Amino acid sequence: MKKIFVSYNLPGLFDEGLSKKYAVEIREGEDLISREELLRKIAGVHGVVTLLTDIVDAEFFEAAGGQLEVVANYAVGYDNIDVAEATKRGVAVTNTPGVLTEAVGEHVIALLLAVSRRVVEGDQHVRAGKYHGWRPNLLVGSTIRGKTMGIIGLGRIGKWTARLACGLGMKTMYYSRTQDMEFELECGLEYTSFEDVLKRADVVSLNVPLTKETSGLMSGPQFALMKKTAILINTARGGVVDEKALIAALKQGVIGGAGLDVFEDERNVNPDLYSLTNVVLTPHIASATQEAREAMARIAVEGVESLLSGSRPANVVNPEIWKGGGDKND
Ligand code: NAP
Ligand code: GLV
Ligand code: GLV
Repeated sequence: MKKIFVSYNLPGLFDEGLSKKYAVEIREGEDLISREELLRKIAGVHGVVTLLTDIVDAEFFEAAGGQLEVVANYAVGYDNIDVAEATKRGVAVTNTPGVLTEAVGEHVIALLLAVSRRVVEGDQHVRAGKYHGWRPNLLVGSTIRGKTMGIIGLGRIGKWTARLACGLGMKTMYYSRTQDMEFELECGLEYTSFEDVLKRADVVSLNVPLTKETSGLMSGPQFALMKKTAILINTARGGVVDEKALIAALKQGVIGGAGLDVFEDERNVNPDLYSLTNVVLTPHIASATQEAREAMARIAVEGVESLLSGSRPANVVNPEIWKGGGDKND
């Protein structure tokens, strides 16, 4: 019987079918698996379901062994995985595209509204017992309608965010490496350069994956191009932003505010962010809806199941493992 290891007890993971065909071990507990335990548990398995916090590198593949066929990442982003190394070893890597798109787009808007309408400051004001009646100048923010949303990375989430922004009466513009003229028609989006988005947008939403190219994409010179009132929303990955430069820009009024769901070091969030009132922080929960999380679990498990039974699901990020034939997955 082929073996599967799941590194976290995923919400909505129904493994009845899976357990009939495979020897499945699901790690219980609320805490994240340690590196040592992960390397121990994957020895001899054929499929692993990983979290974005699990680093999948050459050491991981060595620890698993040559029989490993698939790593299913319970996330759409897979920057935690050395895909080239997986490909070299003929191991398929899957992710969970499409099923969390709306949830993340909604979170972009939630952060945007929270920052621009000072929702968190307002909540803290009331809870601190400071509210004693309406005042014209209390926690004044800015109206979103008519402002410009600039999207960096027009993929699934970028597009859904654009649609939601349209619905709020925002103008929309984007930068991506490829232009999507069909979608522009649907949404009235303007395609422009990265620098132009930074200069003209009132809100900049980062929706790119973390890659060599996008690492540190937003740093001092980029913040300097932005409007003094602009809001940066990051639901992509912490590494897309130079966080020290962001903190400096926020402190010095180079930009107006930020909504951050992801951080450079998620195990140790930079405490300099805590004291900034023009920032709203959430703990990487953009895809955290019941609907999205259950669908992610289903897709991850389906990916493992179909790969172990010889099929090729659409959500394999390295289909080149099958090019040329002859490898163990063919
Ligand atoms: P996607 O459909 O692949 O979209 C990403 C887009 O980024 C692509 O369309 C790509 O278009 C563009 N892109 C890639 N490299 C670029 C570059 N160097 N410059 C400009 N644009 C670039 O992925 P998605 O499903 O929308 O997810 C996007 C990312 O969101 C994920 O990779 C993940 O890191 C993050 N995410 C975060 C959460 C959360 O909980 N906070 C949840 C889900 C996803 P071009 O090829 O045309 O450039
Ligand atoms: C979450 O961050 C994901 O990439 O799915
Ligand atoms: C405010 O509460 C208003 O009625 O304008």
